[in-house]
Amino acid sequence: MKSTPFSFLSEVIRFLRPYWYLVLLAMFFSLLASLTSGGIAWMVKPVMDEVFLARNYFYLKLLPLGIFFFFFLRGVASLLQAYFMRAAALRMVNDLRAELYRKLIHLPLSHFQEEGSGRNLSRVLNDTLVLEPILSTVFQVFLLEGFNTFILLGVAFSRSIRLTLVSMVVLPVIAYGGQYLARRVRRHRRQAQKTIGEITHRLTETFTGLREVKVYGRETEILRLFRRGIDRYAAFLLKITKYREGSKSLVDLMTGVGGAFLIALGGFMMARGQITPGAFFSVLTAILMLFTPIRKIARAYTGLSDARAAWERLEEILRLPEERGGPRSAPPPRREIRYEGVSFRYPGSEKWALQGLNLTIPVGQVTALVGPSGAGKSTLISLLPRFYDPTEGRILWDGVDLREFELDSLRSHIGLVSQEIVIFNATVAENIAFARPEASRREIEEAARLANAHEFIQQLPQGYDTLLGEGGITLSGGQKQRLAIARAILRNPALLILDEATSQLDPVSEHLVQQALSRLMRGRTTLVIAHRLSTVTRADKIVVLEEGRIVAEGRHEELLDTCELYRELYRLFQP
Ligand SMILES: Nc1ncnc2c1ncn2[C@@H]1O[C@H](COP(=O)(O)OP(=O)(O)O)[C@@H](O)[C@H]1O
Ligand SMILES: [Mg+2]
Repeated sequence: MKSTPFSFLSEVIRFLRPYWYLVLLAMFFSLLASLTSGGIAWMVKPVMDEVFLARNYFYLKLLPLGIFFFFFLRGVASLLQAYFMRAAALRMVNDLRAELYRKLIHLPLSHFQEEGSGRNLSRVLNDTLVLEPILSTVFQVFLLEGFNTFILLGVAFSRSIRLTLVSMVVLPVIAYGGQYLARRVRRHRRQAQKTIGEITHRLTETFTGLREVKVYGRETEILRLFRRGIDRYAAFLLKITKYREGSKSLVDLMTGVGGAFLIALGGFMMARGQITPGAFFSVLTAILMLFTPIRKIARAYTGLSDARAAWERLEEILRLPEERGGPRSAPPPRREIRYEGVSFRYPGSEKWALQGLNLTIPVGQVTALVGPSGAGKSTLISLLPRFYDPTEGRILWDGVDLREFELDSLRSHIGLVSQEIVIFNATVAENIAFARPEASRREIEEAARLANAHEFIQQLPQGYDTLLGEGGITLSGGQKQRLAIARAILRNPALLILDEATSQLDPVSEHLVQQALSRLMRGRTTLVIAHRLSTVTRADKIVVLEEGRIVAEGRHEELLDTCELYRELYRLFQP
């Protein structure tokens, strides 16, 4: 047990603070509703003793009106308190959602590396979905029914202390039993949520790898695993229901026991003339009215445990460290970018992806990285925008460690065209302007022209306003690549990184892309990874990588003479 449910609430209430005025309104109406309830129970005595038993016909005529007024007031007040409380809770949960989303965006890539991004997303969506209704009702119930309990108890005690005490003997049983059941519910809730996370993860995995699933005929196996997952989930939910309903029945049972006691003792006292019939019925009414709030509070207490389970997992995310930059604003590089003794290991991996790298990237020139697949080329470039930091060594940007710079300002100098082009669910123009949202339509078109994309864009149904991605048009690999190039052109970065930007293209596309790329690279510091060595042959400097180490450096002709691996790569990837 890390914390009591109430200490958890105090953490959540932090998020309610901006909506204090709504909470205050809700509290006001709760109090009003409770006072009305208490008033109803209180009035039973005078009505009984002075109206019915004394046969006072004048008051008897007024009675229906009075009852109507009380119940009307109570109805309106409960409605308003529920509305204001829900409004506050909804806003609070949305703030929490936004905060989580912000957090996820600012987490270092290495986190997604370790955790699997599917699980994170499912957490944000699922847990906040679980949290919201629970929190709304929990707050509402604790407020309204809390007041109700106090006021009704007050009324009952003021009418007869002995009678009220007797009827309350069952309360500890309810409280203890309820807590036991709530604990069970919480445990199963937690397991159910974990299972759902796993299922979601599996689903994303299946659909990104659907081709593999089909071609290797794994449908049955996958279906079986999925079935097992959802069956486990259902089993947990069923257990939750069992315990939750169990706690309801417990309260019901105790209601019966308490009621029986009360009637027996009350009748006895009344027969002996120790209390008036009015006082007896007043206590009876108050006690009967008390059972609803108590039952609701007990149930809310269970709900609270569910909410806490969800909250604890959200907190885990909220506490994760965000990626952090340094204090300095990065100027564009003017001389060189240098890797100094850089080694790198992916988090959770044993193997060194890069080892003892010393490399200078001169500004204004084209530096090419070549090497077999898995040599560490992509890893090497991912250190520049600080997607990852070197495990050992450092990277100097005109002599300043990258970690000194603010992340935004560092990244603002970098353009990246990688092998996996991401097209967002937006129009063509918006996709190009992703790198610079404030770009004008003319700038966007100009970039598209330079990227050899203008022509095919014009042939799309709505030209630049054609929707891409889900529900829109799917582009070919070459077209996507040219969009990505247009993006980079629009960004006009000081440092351009191309990661196998021309892989997997047909010769015509490749020619168009190649042309666009040379326009983009002109006069710009470029770091290029290429499969086809045609781009590379003209590079100012070629770096040959193998198993995370630099094995040779030089110009094309030199390397052909001196580097066996380079010769081999050149022969393999001849266009
Ligand atoms: N996200 C990752 N997590 C763990 N290991 C990785 C990851 N990405 C790449 N690696 C490993 O790092 C090494 C270098 O990979 P990479 O930089 O992608 O090579 P290249 O781009 O030259 O093909 C490989 O051994 C690869 O398995
Ligand atoms: Mg790669």
